[in-house]
Amino acid sequence: MSIFITPTIETDRLILRPLTINDADDVFEWTGDERVAKYMVYPCHRNIEVTREWLCSLDILENEYIWGFVRKSDGKLIGSGGIRFRTDENVWSFGYNLRYDCWGHGFATEASKRMIEYAYSENNAREFVSEHAVENTASGRVIEKCGLVFDEYSEYSKFDNSYTFKSKKYRMILK
Ligand SMILES: CC(C)(COP(=O)(O)OP(=O)(O)OC[C@H]1O[C@@H](n2cnc3c(N)ncnc32)[C@H](O)[C@@H]1OP(=O)(O)O)[C@@H](O)C(=O)NCCC(=O)NCCS
Repeated sequence: MSIFITPTIETDRLILRPLTINDADDVFEWTGDERVAKYMVYPCHRNIEVTREWLCSLDILENEYIWGFVRKSDGKLIGSGGIRFRTDENVWSFGYNLRYDCWGHGFATEASKRMIEYAYSENNAREFVSEHAVENTASGRVIEKCGLVFDEYSEYSKFDNSYTFKSKKYRMILK
């Protein structure tokens, strides 16, 4: 296991930076929103304390970077995402979620491409996988626009096992 330190990086429209406990109010805007949490592995946060606990757990990240996505135009924290090295399969997997009123502007794709690029250049990452619930077609588009191609059907469960989703898994191998 390696401890990863999440750096601040950027794209045209976003700053990707580490999240801190001071972000709890903003983060709860989406972690506490059923529309956003629906297909995520975390159960929707019942209250802001759950979000605070999650933010505290980010102090030490093993084999994983997690970024908050800040919109440059107004400095607002609009979502988060991360990329993780899976030692079991020697692949990198990534994910993302945005506050509901910020969907549909290409932000998830823009952030994901940058996360991939970062792991590629700094960690020598070459093989990437990502997965989405079959009905979550918007996430499928993000994954495709990042260059991954459909590999197989699978399934995944929420952390609390409250739901299991049929999923589509995608893969990309870079030179
Ligand atoms: C998935 C999510 C991150 C997408 O964020 P986003 O910034 O809106 O994504 P982008 O704008 O980069 O791309 C979305 C793509 O999906 C398409 N899309 C959006 N809603 C769609 C829908 N209901 N059906 C089909 N396609 C849809 C968009 O048209 C766009 O594709 P296009 O560029 O080819 O037109 C956002 O919807 C979200 O936070 N969802 C909740 C969390 C989540 O499900 N995360 C992924 C778990 S696997």
